[in-house]
Amino acid sequence: MDFRLVRATENDLPFIMATERRAGYDAFVGRWDEPCHRQAFADGTHAYFVGIEGSAPIGFVILRGWASAERVTLVKRIAVVAPGQGQGRMLLAAAIDRAFVETDAYRLCIGLFPDNHRARRAYEAVGFTAEGIARGSALFNGVHRDELVMAQLRPEWERRAGTPA
Ligand SMILES: CC(C)(COP(=O)(O)OP(=O)(O)OC[C@H]1O[C@@H](n2cnc3c(N)ncnc32)[C@H](O)[C@@H]1OP(=O)(O)O)[C@@H](O)C(=O)NCCC(=O)NCCS
Repeated sequence: MDFRLVRATENDLPFIMATERRAGYDAFVGRWDEPCHRQAFADGTHAYFVGIEGSAPIGFVILRGWASAERVTLVKRIAVVAPGQGQGRMLLAAAIDRAFVETDAYRLCIGLFPDNHRARRAYEAVGFTAEGIARGSALFNGVHRDELVMAQLRPEWERRAGTPA
């Protein structure tokens, strides 16, 4: 099936908000209300992407620190409609390529709850390395939670993509 990663528009917000609210996802991923998403959309530091297979959206990725001066970009949020079918890694791999091709990012990082084994496996499959636990780095539903920090650096992506340095 034909897959494309496109920059989201505000018309995609209902899909994004429904996806981050899917049953069972509340244990793993944050969710914002519409004003919060609209503010992130407009603030110039977030890049929203939607993955499309055929003509249907299959998931979204939000990057924070897009084209930042520090050359560090955070995968702030990712979720797919149908997990465990390889779509998350396809979506993330495409978003990684966009970040490294379209910006001069040196480091892409992502934080996940250490018990999110499915996410960790998907992230490792697209080149992220676990670096360690950042204690209390996520304020999630009013609770300070530890996050596993994973990252990949541009030279690692270049080696994986077979792109000359
Ligand atoms: C995280 C997410 C985007 C990953 O996308 P995905 O499409 O599910 O991932 P993939 O299917 O590409 O890969 C999942 C891998 O985890 C494995 N897996 C599935 N369930 C698992 C579990 N409970 N424990 C360990 N591994 C698991 C799968 O077998 C697969 O690995 P393999 O292909 O090597 O066998 C998706 O699961 C999702 O949207 N989850 C809900 C929201 C979320 O957790 N977001 C991330 C917050 S950091």
